[in-house]
Amino acid sequence: MPDANSIDRLAAAARAARAVAYAPYSKFCVGAAVLLDNGVIVPGANVENASYGLTCCAERVAMFAARTQHAQAGIVALAVSCGADDFMHAGDHTRMPCGACRQVMVEFMAPDTPIWIDGVGTHKLSDLLPTPFKL
Ligand code: THU
Repeated sequence: MPDANSIDRLAAAARAARAVAYAPYSKFCVGAAVLLDNGVIVPGANVENASYGLTCCAERVAMFAARTQHAQAGIVALAVSCGADDFMHAGDHTRMPCGACRQVMVEFMAPDTPIWIDGVGTHKLSDLLPTPFKL
């Protein structure tokens, strides 16, 4: 289980990654970062497309980058930040990772992996998606 200092560094990386979001359509910038079991932090940001459905969320960009750049490493924590200051939110619950990203998290992370969500707190992955699809 990552210590508090590692989670702080991961959270900072997720917040920083918002700056490189490509979100010209929604203007909703999301940053994410994953912590690997070798100590490396891999960031990601949402990348949108004129054909809206092709957009990829920040969390999946980070997980896919980690999987392709550090194929042998496991993911031990994920952080996501969509900030509340530049977008109208109905409440903290609106800052949660989307369902598609939760399913991808299950593919690459253990059920007790901490998911840090800016402005919300830390949840275990199994609490975010208790009944994932499995083959
Ligand atoms: N988005 C994420 O990056 N992560 C999520 O968990 C939910 C939504 C992005 C996708 C899109 O670029 C923008 O937020 C608005 O939906």
